[in-house]
Amino acid sequence: MTPLAALLRERIRTKGPISVAEYMATALGDPDHGYYRKKDPLGAAGDFITAPEISQMFGEIVGLWCVATWQTMGAPRRFNLVELGPGRGTLMADLLRAARLVPEFERAARLHLVETSPALRKAQRKTLGERRVRWHDEFAQVPRAPTLVVANEFFDALPIRQFIFLDGIWRERLIDCVQDEFALVAGPPLLGDLPWGCHGAATDGAIAEVCPAARSLAAAIGQLVTQNGGAALIIDYGPTRSGYGDSLQAVRGHRYHPPLADPGEADLTAHVDFQALAEAAAPAVAHGPVAQGLWLRRLGIEMRAAALAQANPSKAGEVALACRRLIAPSEMGTLFKVLAIAAPNLPTLPGIADEEGRR
Ligand SMILES: C[S@@+](CC[C@H](N)C(=O)[O-])C[C@H]1O[C@@H](n2cnc3c(N)ncnc32)[C@H](O)[C@@H]1O
Repeated sequence: MTPLAALLRERIRTKGPISVAEYMATALGDPDHGYYRKKDPLGAAGDFITAPEISQMFGEIVGLWCVATWQTMGAPRRFNLVELGPGRGTLMADLLRAARLVPEFERAARLHLVETSPALRKAQRKTLGERRVRWHDEFAQVPRAPTLVVANEFFDALPIRQFIFLDGIWRERLIDCVQDEFALVAGPPLLGDLPWGCHGAATDGAIAEVCPAARSLAAAIGQLVTQNGGAALIIDYGPTRSGYGDSLQAVRGHRYHPPLADPGEADLTAHVDFQALAEAAAPAVAHGPVAQGLWLRRLGIEMRAAALAQANPSKAGEVALACRRLIAPSEMGTLFKVLAIAAPNLPTLPGIADEEGRR
């Protein structure tokens, strides 16, 4: 039994069943045993790999997007460049290298990293070298100023609550201990409808997921960029429109793992509800979401791949494979989406207009 499983069992024994959100927050963020507090989980030797770790092209394109968006903001002489959950710092390092094309951008940027993992803060320090950086535990600590926010695979780690529709009534799904195993059970009936509204007519057994932390963060980002100028680029996995379904999943050693087994030892994520983020960010304007593959192609990933292959022919196969992984619909190209939240005065942002050219 993992130390966290023992802790959660004791909590359930004394207080009763806990919400999925409490389970997820503890499994990922417990100060002593939480998954993200202990080690660097990224890469071949870890549990999963993310887009910036697949290829430098990803962070470079995010960097070009940031430069172009900063220019549409009127190129402020000082602005916050914020990354939420920067992992090993790879995306930020690639972003800054690509942005060197416009030295004024680099000079104007004040780096703020929102990261709770001591192990990953150390990795970020190493990747970013001498560059001046301020770390924060929460986005609320970022100073008020014109701001660009970047978040790749961050929102999917925020704790979700789940609700189940049974015999015409919504109940919160809770986690109980049944014969020494964690199990999902239906909690007491909710009075009335889901507090966040339903996503259309629900059939018996439908599961609704709500991420209060993601909604408050989107609202805080929306408020900051509306009042101070700027935009956020959110890249993650999930459907374009809110819907029903159980998306809680765990990954360990690059394989799916039962989400309620081994808390603290496996990564836990859930689909990001982009529609909910867009709504919560108002009065800031949501652009997209568009599929990651389409967004990367619009911003020239195939040309960048060709240039990298030409400069280093022995790596051409590797570069082509990485590019395919990032853009192919059967890989990350369609499941992953790109959403921007921007100050209302900003025009259409690079690569994010939809097929008809609208926002
Ligand atoms: C899946 S990793 C993604 C890392 C990186 N963005 C990438 O694409 O490689 C999630 C990141 O978010 C951080 N994180 C998770 N939950 C967090 C929270 N509640 N507050 C701040 N950082 C968090 C993790 O420590 C990690 O850096």
